[in-house]
Amino acid sequence: MQNLTTLGEFIIKNQQDFPYAKGELTRLFNAITLASKVMNSQINKAGLVDDLMGKVGTENVQGEEQKKLDVYANKVFINALKARNEVCGIASEEEEETIIFENEAGKNGKYIVLIDPIDGSSNIEVNVSIGTVFAIYRRVSPIGTAAVLEDFLQKGRAQVAAGYVIFGSSTMLVFTTGNGVNGFTYDPSVGVFYLSHTNIQIPEKGTIYSVNEGNYAYFSESMKSFIDYCKFVDTSTNRPYTGRYIGSMIADLHRNFLKGGIYMYPDSIKSPNGKLRLLYECNPMAFLIEQAGGKATNGKQAILDIKPREIHERTPFYGGSSKMVSQLEMMLTNTL
Ligand code: AHG
Ligand code: MN
Ligand code: MN
Repeated sequence: MQNLTTLGEFIIKNQQDFPYAKGELTRLFNAITLASKVMNSQINKAGLVDDLMGKVGTENVQGEEQKKLDVYANKVFINALKARNEVCGIASEEEEETIIFENEAGKNGKYIVLIDPIDGSSNIEVNVSIGTVFAIYRRVSPIGTAAVLEDFLQKGRAQVAAGYVIFGSSTMLVFTTGNGVNGFTYDPSVGVFYLSHTNIQIPEKGTIYSVNEGNYAYFSESMKSFIDYCKFVDTSTNRPYTGRYIGSMIADLHRNFLKGGIYMYPDSIKSPNGKLRLLYECNPMAFLIEQAGGKATNGKQAILDIKPREIHERTPFYGGSSKMVSQLEMMLTNTL
């Protein structure tokens, strides 16, 4: 067997990347990896277990129907994070209000976690890749008090760590602490994540575009012209590009991290602010994208520079290979 680095070894070796007290990063990531392992084992048998497959019959705060796995994953991650005593508050796609830990350990916790427990819910039943995405911030309110809304509404630029877990043909954890992006593949027979993708860099130019083209009729004229540009024949710029759309943002972006490309969830007549949520979908992915040398924007400014106004706000999102995103930005601006 190769001499593989485990996630635990990697974190200990790179503690200095996390310029705070030693051990905090380890404990935070222990919580996330434990929850990911639990989810991995449950997702792998979701088709066999009635309790995990299908709808709950309720809607989350965004009016979207909740799947049993959404609710289950939400509990698993919240419980794992609570138990490690590093976190003073959590915001989740599946929780209308923020969760504030008011006990002594919670008041002394220094970190805020924002999470989309299951991204790509509509793909659960058809056995297509889904994921979990998380953003971690230092609180801005004083330690020793209960967390406040301001702790959650920080710009993406203030993230101290972010990552995602993709439950695909294999399970991977990909994360950054602001010093590059690394990917770890899970070996379920041993129960360990091993470093498999060191210093991931998004290719500057890509040839894959990813958007729900079923919404074409509702897009702005400038967005339509970018999609037409992607399909236009021009061999000198490798066009037409290849179209790929999985419908799980994490899976579509994971492909782009490795192969290059642009992922888009634009605003449209039907959804004026797009669909994706700024705090627990776009910000963590934008942090990872920038750390991997790519670009992420809402068409007007970098995602990481947007000042959030509310926990569940949405934003148009365009991210991936820097040259492709710049081309899109130019076309969005020129045809406004
Ligand atoms: P979630 O499952 O957390 O609600 O997120 C779904 C998101 C995202 O993962 C995906 O890219 C997008 O919704 C797909 O939406 P459309 O079906 O509208 O294309
Ligand atoms: Mn999602
Ligand atoms: Mn979700």
